[in-house]
Amino acid sequence: MKKGYEKYIPFEAIELGNRQWPSKKIEKHPIWCSVDLRDGNQALVDPMNMDEKLEMFKTLCEIGIKEIEVGFPSASDTEYEILRELIDGGHIPDDVTIQVLVQAREHLIRKTFDAIRGAKNAIVHFYNSTSKLQRKVVFKQEMAGITEIAVNGAKLIKELGDQAAKETGCNIRYEYSPESFMGTEPEYAVAICDSVMKAVGADRNNKIILNLPSTVESSTPNCFADLVEYFCNNLPEREAAIISLHPHNDRGTAVATAELGLLAGADRIEGTLFGNGERTGNVDIITLARNMYTQAIDPGLDLSDINRIREVYERTTRMTVPIRHPYVGELVFTAFSGSHQDAINKGETYMKDSGTEYWEVPYLPIDPADVGRAYEPIIRINSQSGKGGVAFVMSNSFGYDLPKAMHPEFGRIVQGYCEKAGREVGAEEVMDLFKSEYIDIREPYKLVSHKFYEESGLYDETPLVRFEGQLKHNGDEPVAISGTGNGPIDAFFNALETVGISGYQFVNYSEHAISIGSDAKAVSYIQLLSPAGKNIFGLGISHNTNYASIRGVLCAINRSLKI
Ligand code: KIV
Ligand code: ZN
Repeated sequence: MKKGYEKYIPFEAIELGNRQWPSKKIEKHPIWCSVDLRDGNQALVDPMNMDEKLEMFKTLCEIGIKEIEVGFPSASDTEYEILRELIDGGHIPDDVTIQVLVQAREHLIRKTFDAIRGAKNAIVHFYNSTSKLQRKVVFKQEMAGITEIAVNGAKLIKELGDQAAKETGCNIRYEYSPESFMGTEPEYAVAICDSVMKAVGADRNNKIILNLPSTVESSTPNCFADLVEYFCNNLPEREAAIISLHPHNDRGTAVATAELGLLAGADRIEGTLFGNGERTGNVDIITLARNMYTQAIDPGLDLSDINRIREVYERTTRMTVPIRHPYVGELVFTAFSGSHQDAINKGETYMKDSGTEYWEVPYLPIDPADVGRAYEPIIRINSQSGKGGVAFVMSNSFGYDLPKAMHPEFGRIVQGYCEKAGREVGAEEVMDLFKSEYIDIREPYKLVSHKFYEESGLYDETPLVRFEGQLKHNGDEPVAISGTGNGPIDAFFNALETVGISGYQFVNYSEHAISIGSDAKAVSYIQLLSPAGKNIFGLGISHNTNYASIRGVLCAINRSLKI
């Protein structure tokens, strides 16, 4: 008796000598076909109602998908009705082709043709299952019997299609899927498709779509690519067929399967938005398209308003897009970790300073602005975050460009706060910390009044600067202080020494303008070495740059006394 993993039969890969796909590149987008309204809808706990289907259809058209499988009209009345509404209600743009699915069985085929009567363009997609397993356990038929079902279906479809084209002028095309293709002997897949092609009279002017599904994904993507390359090379009339793929995601590799399948020669992809569909879903068209976009290939779809697409999807399907979903999930443009934040921060600065035309930001594979995600915080702060991330928030959200040397000091303050809080902190909270740590520090020393004078010196000498003011210590009466120096900061330091505030060494200074409300002010960052030999920063804000600087000095002194 086999146990656990021993009971599984490994996928039997084909021997494909001289395979070409590994050295190929994807150079253009495939023909896209959405199966949201069929494979996607049939997999929902609560299938979409008529209004929801119409809204989804409209959204798919807006994205730019030109082939849309609308349903399985012979399987249920609701599926039939949506087709009638789409056609009779004039909802289908002229350049969009609706596709309908049907099993290769006579009564179902006839009902399907009724459902599409009056459509301008339609693809009739028929299928039967061809795999070894399905032949053995479901149909209990040999290959010949399975081929007969497909060929009979094809002949009837061709007859009804010709008739409909004559009567209604409908531009009808055909699609055949050897369902469970992955588990079908490749020679047999080619043979049955060749028979179907002959039955519908496919040629290079009337191509048939041959859709190769990984109905249940059951191997690594390279094995699937080998099957596709084999199929393309061995199909007798390759130029009379559009090769389509329909990857499911049972192993979580549908996107890779689709991409390698395109390398192997496929022309078309059937998939869904966000990968909805049976079991683990169909291949996600959005991820595939975005993968192409980030390789500088036009995906042929407009996904710029992804937030709206997602909103329609979530509302109509009652599914949710996971927060880590590629390109779209809530957290996929967010960096919490310090090193990532730092690199993103540097990348953004590089983009600004270099004027590069290319997207060159580490850790962000796509420009968030290209997918409507420009206004959310890319850098979010928790205890994993570093100084770079905190500096990014201060600059991007509030306009404070902290000097590099100050990043570790404020970074540590924020990190300590996050650790205590045990959670993420928002940008406003970071700003509150900044205020309480630097802006609102007015104790123990506070300047009650201040004035600067230029002291005239000799004709060719730089004039000295004189500071006079009133300094208050906690609740004490203010005392007058004054001093003269080479510049305002020096003059202020000298004035402080007269009341015994000494031992501080000036290390560095930087300033920039900042808009606070409608007001433009100067912000000064002062770095001092405290009498205890510690680096400490202070910040001053004023309309006047001199006053901003001395406030910065006093702030640093107050902070050093507090610490
Ligand atoms: O997954 C599948 O094989 C299908 C076919 C009907 C194409 O959905
Ligand atoms: Zn499917």
